[in-house]
Amino acid sequence: MKIAVFNCRPDEKEFFETYSEQYQVELSVTSDPPTLTNISIVEGCIAASVITTPIERDLLNAWKSKGIQTISTRTVGYDHIDLEYAKELGITISNVSYTPHTVAEYTVMTILMTIRKMKTILTRYQVQDYSLFDVRGKELRNMTVGVVGTGKIGEMVIQNLSGFGCKILAYDPYEKESVKSYANYVTLEDLWKESDLITFHTPAIKSTYHMVNRKSLQQMKSGVALINMARGSIIDTDALIEALESGRVSAAALDVIENEGKIYYNDYKHTVTKNHDMAILSAMPNVLMTPHTAFFTDEAVSDMIHYSLESCVAEINGSENPRKVI
Ligand code: COI
Repeated sequence: MKIAVFNCRPDEKEFFETYSEQYQVELSVTSDPPTLTNISIVEGCIAASVITTPIERDLLNAWKSKGIQTISTRTVGYDHIDLEYAKELGITISNVSYTPHTVAEYTVMTILMTIRKMKTILTRYQVQDYSLFDVRGKELRNMTVGVVGTGKIGEMVIQNLSGFGCKILAYDPYEKESVKSYANYVTLEDLWKESDLITFHTPAIKSTYHMVNRKSLQQMKSGVALINMARGSIIDTDALIEALESGRVSAAALDVIENEGKIYYNDYKHTVTKNHDMAILSAMPNVLMTPHTAFFTDEAVSDMIHYSLESCVAEINGSENPRKVI
């Protein structure tokens, strides 16, 4: 069985070697994203492993004609794949799950960095400015933290935060008994109203698109801090910028942003940026931005590759695949 692997980074190679041996599969590997011009990579393959590049109609048609029967995205999110069209073509799609600790720990780190104004402290240190002006922080134990989305990652964030003694409010349309020992489920309106800091752990679906918008920002506490380690589409970026400019939002940590697609994971140091929102936000001293790296640990990368190859094999062999999306 031959599997095409796209966007293979150098740090992924050792895991692809290990798991291709374990599952006895041959790989056709490229570091490039999948496009219509590199169709030859899928020659002789029946499955493809991808990451965040949009997988749209044209590509699906081209891959189908080359014999691709299943696609696995080495990510939890699968909003970059045209699922409906894949289904029409009879191509199955699966995603992966990986250790929730990776994003949960990164979230707690950025929460602490945000409330302790770490971006300002670190940038000042670089220029030998050791003054205390405007870097006094807050203690988490005195804060109310709202967690939107209590899937695996949201629940882990709640468990990790419980050690800090803060009050934790949670919102999810599907409430979990296990979360109730650490947090109180409330309505979204109450969560907006009562939280000093809100962290998002929801998928990018219709109901979460721009859930942070001008209206919901008005319902939040003045001076709220927002943490988004999930998907850029959850926050209306223009509305967030306005709220940061007016001070209604006091700080933000964003590992994701709308339209990050072709930018993150590339080196643009010598390029003039065309993404104005990103330029504005990253210039703000109270906005901590990272390039979608919350997932990036040894453990998570190993899981991503392991489960991607495992589900390609399961799909092709017709065996049970717990990671099947469609
Ligand atoms: C996911 O797995 O959905 C992520 O957010 C990480 C990925 C973009 C590499």
